[in-house]
Amino acid sequence: MTESSALEAATTFAELDLAPEILLALEDLGYRAPTPIQKQAIPLVLAGRDLLAQAQTGTGKTAAFALPLLQRMKSYANTSTSPARHPVRALVLAPTRELAIQVYESVVGYSKYLSLRSTVVYGGVGMDTQEAQLRAGVEVLVATPGRLLDHAGNRTLALSQVQYLVLDEADRMLDMGFLPDLKRILNLLPRERQTLLFSATFDDPITRLAQSFLKDPLKVEVARRNTAAETVEQLVHRVKEDEKTEALVRVVKARGLAQALVFTRTKISADRLGRQLLKRGLRASVIHGDKAQSERLQALEGFKQGQAQLLVATDIAARGLDIVELPCVINYELPYSPEDYVHRIGRTGRAGAEGVAVSLVAPDEEKLLAGIEHFIHRSLAVTPLPELPGPPAAPARAAAEARRIPGPPGRRRAQPVCALLLPPASPQGPNEPR
Ligand SMILES: Nc1ncnc2c1ncn2[C@@H]1O[C@H](COP(=O)(O)OP(=O)(O)OP(=O)(O)O)[C@@H](O)[C@H]1O
Ligand SMILES: [Mg+2]
Repeated sequence: MTESSALEAATTFAELDLAPEILLALEDLGYRAPTPIQKQAIPLVLAGRDLLAQAQTGTGKTAAFALPLLQRMKSYANTSTSPARHPVRALVLAPTRELAIQVYESVVGYSKYLSLRSTVVYGGVGMDTQEAQLRAGVEVLVATPGRLLDHAGNRTLALSQVQYLVLDEADRMLDMGFLPDLKRILNLLPRERQTLLFSATFDDPITRLAQSFLKDPLKVEVARRNTAAETVEQLVHRVKEDEKTEALVRVVKARGLAQALVFTRTKISADRLGRQLLKRGLRASVIHGDKAQSERLQALEGFKQGQAQLLVATDIAARGLDIVELPCVINYELPYSPEDYVHRIGRTGRAGAEGVAVSLVAPDEEKLLAGIEHFIHRSLAVTPLPELPGPPAAPARAAAEARRIPGPPGRRRAQPVCALLLPPASPQGPNEPR
């Protein structure tokens, strides 16, 4: 069964025993039927089980944890103005600020008919607004780990009533970079709680580590491990290092791409490539961890709204971000970790839509390519660079539309609330994820 038909041929959300308020919100969002991970995970979360859940990129993992948690918290919904009536009951941790904001936006959409409050805290912006929201009380808190610890240290935040913990992009949250912060956070939470781990990739050491703080967990695996959605066509062009920028421009023009997300390995090469593309007259913007938070959000929002044709990014944008109907991801440089490859290319081909992932591979990247192919258990098609078309290319949106296999009908972009969150420029910079 293809991804899109799997998305369509499911039972209904109503059959999953979700509350009318949640069903109404899903209707507003144009979700007709649960995806495979939603069908599998929702009943288990409702039954109170700890989960280690793996499903391909873009297949609706956010709703798979958020919907049943909202349902479980529904009995606490109230309109009291007393902060004591709104303790943090669910904590969702995400590895990047942009992803935390996006998960929060999803929670807002799913809970719009419930009297449950939610907010998001992340670094790179002032503490005051976040503090005021935390003091007023929220049931659902989405956070990046560093900023969460800052608030906990300032005693603006009590976590003693947390009943539900979610690690989105769980394998990333459990790797060496995040583990110390995560351990500190776990020490602040009640032992008696439900813990949910979601990602498109898990390796064995991470799975073993995860067992240590999960209670009798169930493993949910949709499809084969460590895969992007099958709707992503993957191909490789072998290119000399110093010809990559020309190759990138050729791919964009020959394919008539309205938009593409372009990944580099380092902030320096992202900046350099951004400048080169601008010089060639392409509307490109750049996002990486050394940019001010306001610049990061503006680059991402501008790209989502079609103001930029190309968004050049480091792996800060590899995980979780949902850019509706993005037609193409280009690996200008392959990532060092094969997991990042899966997440990068998973920014396209989401929710049943089709997408293309093109990797420009220089001779000294052959080893990285072999590592990726080993990780995803398949070899990637190597093809020559596409020919530039003679007459002007057909508008890419129309071309993408023609290629698109029918996804979930009535799919609409959730109302963006990100603009409301745009912070004033902050001097605080690179310390992702604080
Ligand atoms: N049941 C559904 N019907 C239609 N669209 C859905 C459904 N569930 C989720 N979506 C949409 O699918 C897109 C991908 O969802 P989501 O971001 O949760 O994927 P994910 O599995 O978390 O991917 P990633 O591994 O990249 O984080 C979103 O735009 C979301 O609104
Ligand atoms: Mg996700």
